[in-house]
Amino acid sequence: RTARFTLDPAFTVGQVHPRLFGSFVEHLGRCVYTGIYEPTHPMADSEGLRTDVLNLVRELGVTTIRYPGGNFVSGYKWEDSVGPQAERPRRLDLAWHSTESNRFGLSEYIAFLKKLGPQAEPMMAVNLGTRGVAEALELQEYANHPSGTALSDLRAAHGDKEPFGIKLWCLGNEMDGPWQTGHKTAEEYGRIAAETARAMRQIDPSVELVACGSSSQSMPTFAEWEATVLQEAYELVDHISLHAYYEPVDGDLDSFLASAVDMESFIENVVATADHVGARLKSRKKINLSFDEWNVWYLSRWEEHARTIDQSDWPEAPRLLEDNYSVTDAVVFGSLLIALLRHADRVTVACLAQLVNVIAPIMTEPGGPAWRQTTFFPFAQASRHGRGEVLDVRVDSPTYATKKYGETDLLHATAVRAADGTVTVFAVNRSRTEPLPLEVALSGLGLTAVAEHSALADADPDARNTQDAPERVTPHPVEGTALRDGTLTAVLEPLSWNVIRLA
Ligand code: AHR
Repeated sequence: RTARFTLDPAFTVGQVHPRLFGSFVEHLGRCVYTGIYEPTHPMADSEGLRTDVLNLVRELGVTTIRYPGGNFVSGYKWEDSVGPQAERPRRLDLAWHSTESNRFGLSEYIAFLKKLGPQAEPMMAVNLGTRGVAEALELQEYANHPSGTALSDLRAAHGDKEPFGIKLWCLGNEMDGPWQTGHKTAEEYGRIAAETARAMRQIDPSVELVACGSSSQSMPTFAEWEATVLQEAYELVDHISLHAYYEPVDGDLDSFLASAVDMESFIENVVATADHVGARLKSRKKINLSFDEWNVWYLSRWEEHARTIDQSDWPEAPRLLEDNYSVTDAVVFGSLLIALLRHADRVTVACLAQLVNVIAPIMTEPGGPAWRQTTFFPFAQASRHGRGEVLDVRVDSPTYATKKYGETDLLHATAVRAADGTVTVFAVNRSRTEPLPLEVALSGLGLTAVAEHSALADADPDARNTQDAPERVTPHPVEGTALRDGTLTAVLEPLSWNVIRLA
């Protein structure tokens, strides 16, 4: 059976915010050290940043980059990460059982963003786990105040005369999780988030603030947490965060391929909860969603590893969470991107967790090469072609049975209309065995030609890119896709991520 939908410019979801293509750099494993920063690498620049990695990050098309954590932020002392590098203290990082050298810090993060180009924007998290309002204000003053105060002058003395101009701030990280250092109840967190937000706005009313939502939809406190936190902080924050990671459970690939069903319901449930609080407070304001951690993550492997960690060992930049992604993972990943785009009206920030080496689209070897994982391609293509207005896509699709989500559409799709009128369809065929014929009725869009149909799919769905075979998997062109008399016809390969550009 054929999957179908209609595209009409009169029916839209909303504009895609550039921040939807954000990512995340945490002091975790080798994301920073030997990932983006490796002064002894042959391709390092004068500031120790790997230029091969900078080039790949530019190609990936990331915008906002969240920093410095993650769980790491709940033990973060920002003062340790500024000033002369040789004098910075070494600290225990409880979150990842590592030693933090602080060789890379706030100033280096800002330098990294500047080298990426004007689209790269900071998203800085403050520590509300082991610290509080005062330290958040000090960090804000150090980072953003122009001059003439102790902390802004200290920044200038450290070599950064110009303020960093950080607009977007996260009020802590995953404070609902018992694993978080300084974990809080919703009431405790709601109070400290509200008071931190109120004080940060006293320094600068224009800052944009993200309150912590739930670490996943399956948290026992989910929804009640968001309601309680927003009841306290509704008028003081702009966004509520969502985090979600997916992996196959007990080898159930069919449910894994439908992971976006959970992601879309998570988004819709947080929107409903936030709007309910807004209604209760009789507020005209809408809280937007910051999906500031999302990805495929083989979390159970990390949990297994964590149980075996030698408690007396505190390594520096160990190999942690270095998942190697298959074609199947990339198809699920693409479907998660589709879920975000389908909710672009309310999801106005999203960060792929993470950027380099740690559950990442880019891998590196110390002193060696950098390469693209399979997940690199859907992200780069969505960032490049997914800018503009999301069109409302309601699919009529054949379905398949999944243990977790019941009967699920084989087709998952969205479409984005760029300012120049061209349209890009992003589509995933979830079938592991069958090609999926697709028909799209195009009304009133003035489109006449297929500019490109590219697919990520492989005869071996387990194929991956590795150091030895860095280009084993790349997207390939698809023949036979046609646009005639206002109808697009295509065949989506089994288990495939597709980008169809129409002009
Ligand atoms: O991205 C890895 C970790 O996942 C982050 O540190 C934490 O916020 C989440 O649990």
